[in-house]
Amino acid sequence: MRAADLLPAATHRLAAAGIAEPARDARRLLAFALGIAPDRLILYLHDVVESDVIDRFHAVIEERSKRRPLSQITGERLFWGRSFHVTRDVLDPRPETETLVELALSEPFEAVLDLGTGSGAILLTLLAERPEARGVGADISPAALAVARENALRLGISVDFTVSDWFSAIGGQFDLIVSNPPYIAAAEMAALEPEVRDWEPQLALTPGGDGLDAYRRIACEASAHLVPGGRVIVEIGPTQGEAVVQLFRDEGFQSVKITPDMDGRDRVVMAR
Ligand SMILES: C[S@@+](CC[C@H](N)C(=O)[O-])C[C@H]1O[C@@H](n2cnc3c(N)ncnc32)[C@H](O)[C@@H]1O
Repeated sequence: MRAADLLPAATHRLAAAGIAEPARDARRLLAFALGIAPDRLILYLHDVVESDVIDRFHAVIEERSKRRPLSQITGERLFWGRSFHVTRDVLDPRPETETLVELALSEPFEAVLDLGTGSGAILLTLLAERPEARGVGADISPAALAVARENALRLGISVDFTVSDWFSAIGGQFDLIVSNPPYIAAAEMAALEPEVRDWEPQLALTPGGDGLDAYRRIACEASAHLVPGGRVIVEIGPTQGEAVVQLFRDEGFQSVKITPDMDGRDRVVMAR
């Protein structure tokens, strides 16, 4: 059997499971089963495949048809041009989070704190882009921090990671505090895609209630950990802009502004 012959039935299987782009995912998983980069698949499509590759391919198609995210199956996600290891213990880094990274990089910084660092995607990207800066990554989940540590090692970045309930274990001051906290309201959880709702950590998705509790904590405690003129930048859900701006204003922040993502939706709030 040739590699290409495996694709039609797998695509059909994924489509029947409700996968949005079944042909794309089948090709990505075939490349994964073959152990090659996805953009090289075309070179292998007419090769005869060994039975172990066929078994591996069937196993990963089965996993994907249970709506397990592609990144958790392959263990990799590209973020800001770098590959991050991803497991079930961390949020799959999202492309829209690059808006926060872009804004953070638009000004110099020396010391950055990332609250809810997860895979470390934000913090490790900032430190890779600004190697002279120092960084601290905090998360309440020790399992997430183990993934972040592995990513730091893979990227050769030196950084401090600490288990902390937001600021509770954080000492010292920073000129940049970033966070992509859980922000989905409890009532919105049921309507999420199965890939998110059933496979990503609940702790990474929602703080419960109206979805704003993490912002309340961060806005309330951030100024004690910022140097004068320092910035705090948080990712938000597209409908949360005004509410989050108000939370920071209520805590005495002077300059508070919303930045949209590439699709024009409110995505980031920065306060100074
Ligand atoms: C939306 S995920 C963001 C992960 C990563 N920063 C990213 O952007 O891909 C939110 C993270 O906040 C962490 N978290 C949830 N509650 C927390 C708390 N009380 N204190 C610290 N971190 C918390 C979760 O474990 C999760 O890793």
